[in-house]
Amino acid sequence: MKILMVCLGNICRSPLAEGIMQHLADEQGLNWQADSAGTGNWHVGKGPHQGSVQVARKHGIDITQQVCRQFKAGDFDAFDLILAMDESNLNNILRLARTAQDRQKVKLLLNDKEVPDPYFDHTQFEPVFELIEEGCKDIIRQYSR
Ligand code: 4NP
Repeated sequence: MKILMVCLGNICRSPLAEGIMQHLADEQGLNWQADSAGTGNWHVGKGPHQGSVQVARKHGIDITQQVCRQFKAGDFDAFDLILAMDESNLNNILRLARTAQDRQKVKLLLNDKEVPDPYFDHTQFEPVFELIEEGCKDIIRQYSR
């Protein structure tokens, strides 16, 4: 199973989501690959935000090797599941969908809520970590049977 985590900048939320999902999947012995991308291109080529690096490290996950990239239509072919952090990301992804099959691969990470953006409020990195972890555990429960 190949999962792509998507947010706006690919420096705060989706790098965390990639790191957490890969960590949990590896821990459970699942042959899953997680990746991440942003719908925007401002930070392409950069590493994750220090707030994300630090909160991940605190929980035993190293995300420092990740490099920011922009979401592209080819990702619909490369991934089985594309998980957006918020409604705006979801709509930006769906705008690039070419077929019904593309659209079916896309959903919010959390069923009933958005992952808030910690970029403008650095107190949010820890709660965001916990929300994403909860979402990843749900996805594993749903798709690992
Ligand atoms: P992210 O946070 O989407 O969680 O990576 C953001 C990072 C950068 C910007 C916006 C959101 N920005 O506007 O540069």
